[in-house]
Amino acid sequence: MKILALGGDGIGPEVVGAGLDVLACVADIENLDVDVEEDVLHGAAYDQYGTFCRDETVAAAKAADAVLVGSVGGPKWDNLDVGDSPADKDGLIRLRQELDVYSGLRPARAYAPLLSRTPFREEVVAGVDIMVLRELCGGIYFGEPRGIDELADGTFKAYDSNLYSSVEIERILRDGFELARRRRGDLVSTDKANVMESGVLWRRIADELAPLYPDVTLRHMYADNLLYQLVRAPSEFDVIVSDNLFGDLISDLAAAFSGSLGMLPSASLARLAPVGETSSPGIYEAVHGTAPDIAGLGIANPIGTILSIAMMLDYGFARRDLAKKIELAVERTLVAGVLTPDIGGQAKTADITNSVIAHYRAQ
Ligand code: NAD
Ligand code: IPM
Ligand code: MN
Repeated sequence: MKILALGGDGIGPEVVGAGLDVLACVADIENLDVDVEEDVLHGAAYDQYGTFCRDETVAAAKAADAVLVGSVGGPKWDNLDVGDSPADKDGLIRLRQELDVYSGLRPARAYAPLLSRTPFREEVVAGVDIMVLRELCGGIYFGEPRGIDELADGTFKAYDSNLYSSVEIERILRDGFELARRRRGDLVSTDKANVMESGVLWRRIADELAPLYPDVTLRHMYADNLLYQLVRAPSEFDVIVSDNLFGDLISDLAAAFSGSLGMLPSASLARLAPVGETSSPGIYEAVHGTAPDIAGLGIANPIGTILSIAMMLDYGFARRDLAKKIELAVERTLVAGVLTPDIGGQAKTADITNSVIAHYRAQ
């Protein structure tokens, strides 16, 4: 198993370190041959090499079986003159584009020991188990034209394009139907077809695909109503499929069901492989950002990254059995009350990591 680990910025290296410790424990117990190569991304890469993502890093990512990423960004690197394209401006965006990992799986669930840490009444949030499927390589993040132009009168105009081809829409929607089929058979497709042409095409293609998946119930929701319904009754949702921007927003919101943004993992895949087959190289990363407010304090919650390792084993290496063992070790850590401050405790990053490792070994 060749893994490229990119710590990134802020708390990124702290949580990636935790994830790699758990992976080393799994490799040891399960006799896996894991080979980890480390490199830098975004701010850390800029400071060392003057670019957010080196060609060497892209080549190493393409040659790896899986890529583990911390998180990237911070005010220090926000206003540099590094080029105009989205890939120039963000190392992670370049990596997503280069690997064509269009299928962003962002699961969010409630954890019994953390229900009281959420802003929701317990009966609203208990049992919530949602898969947000976010399109990751198209839409407004990449669409042309985009830019900021100065007008003749000295004022400016800024514009982005929510551009999607039917091919891009179809492949993410197919993954949505497929994931729903593997779960509880309920797919909510979200868009703003009432105001956006990209939404009109999105909805049309979803309706065309629906008869191919008779075992899945398709519901359309406008994105504004979706957010309302999701907060009102989250347990009524199974799989939610959305474009790039809406999915970014929905996945942060969904983190509130689990008690902290630090809890959410993700898998970004170039292909949703049939069950039992591998799909590589994918990018595995927690959903959260670099958390500059707590960087360097050793208190970042590493669970999002540890669960991303579980998703890597599941989707990247077809080892659902090992992924389940990690998930169970995380649940037992929460039950044992080993909690970082964001989920109401005083534990350090390393305490959670060590507890997950101990609960993995105990199985
Ligand atoms: P953020 O996710 O970094 O932080 C939001 C809040 O959640 C903060 O209070 C932070 O302390 C807390 N938090 C996040 N992760 C946590 C963890 N693991 N443990 C405990 N608390 C945690 O979002 P932001 O402040 O909007 O963004 C900061 C920087 O991160 C920006 O530069 C942004 O662009 C970048 N960012 C990167 C990614 C990524 O690399 N995937 C994702 C989101 C934001
Ligand atoms: C995420 C992040 C990224 C995004 C940023 C860091 C480019 O917020 O992975 O959710 O907007 O996709
Ligand atoms: Mn985000």
